[in-house]
Amino acid sequence: MNLFNLFINGALDHLKEETDSRTVSTDLLARLQEEHQALSSGYADAEPINYQTLERRLAYAMFYAPKHAYVWREYGRQEWNDRQVLRLNSFGTGPGSEIIGLAEHLRPGGLRRVEAVCLEREDSWRNLAHRVFQRYQEETGVEMNVLWVTDSSYFRRNQHLVGSFVLSELARESLLSQFRAEMVKRIGPARGTFIDGTAVNVVTGKCLLSSMAGQNWYDHFGARGWLCKDDINTAWSACNVKVCGHVLPAEPNICAFKYNFR
Ligand SMILES: C[S@@+](CC[C@H](N)C(=O)[O-])C[C@H]1O[C@@H](n2cnc3c(N)ncnc32)[C@H](O)[C@@H]1O
Repeated sequence: MNLFNLFINGALDHLKEETDSRTVSTDLLARLQEEHQALSSGYADAEPINYQTLERRLAYAMFYAPKHAYVWREYGRQEWNDRQVLRLNSFGTGPGSEIIGLAEHLRPGGLRRVEAVCLEREDSWRNLAHRVFQRYQEETGVEMNVLWVTDSSYFRRNQHLVGSFVLSELARESLLSQFRAEMVKRIGPARGTFIDGTAVNVVTGKCLLSSMAGQNWYDHFGARGWLCKDDINTAWSACNVKVCGHVLPAEPNICAFKYNFR
């Protein structure tokens, strides 16, 4: 499955739901491209990124989300064994990149159902994510059983927690230690996997996420390296509608942070 097509179509379904039209007019196209640029430069800022406008969420879902899903698929290939049911807690779900990426890795091995609890502070992601999950279920036959929650007390205990490009958000807001303690209380003992940039700009300067994350964290580069640039570029070139995005010049400069919440 081309994951750019999946997320772009999910985003267009959501556009229809919000505006009654699935058409990307010239005016909307310009605004989406502007938002794509703003997101691209925003990741270097020390301020948290907000996803409050529809245009920003659409621009994110049409490029960054599928890109992240391919990164998770590659990570899954190196680390996650086949299973019929994928059970996850997801923190900072956005449009659901990590869930889709891991499901895509597990689908050829017989994945039948995803059971995920999603915690996302920006509630307006909910309907867009739902559209993506709905399309994924229709196109693959994998049952998407997703519970969208407003508080970590709804996370399932002992269930793997995943987060994608959210540790950097927590770091920008000096919330990493608090987050770790909260997760130990809510889901521990459980494992956590987070993919993010290696460093993040915070108000006091540039910080390595691994050094900010505390003793039990470690960064892990997959045995073969990420090796997802070619998959991403091939899918991007082949996708039907290109609204915003670009070819990747190099492998993403990211790492996986793994943690035992205990
Ligand atoms: C960069 S986006 C990542 C979205 C998706 N996981 C992905 O990889 O494409 C980070 C998400 O984390 C959410 N987020 C940031 N801080 C959060 C918090 N303290 N609690 C819940 N969600 C948070 C943001 O609203 C945003 O949707």
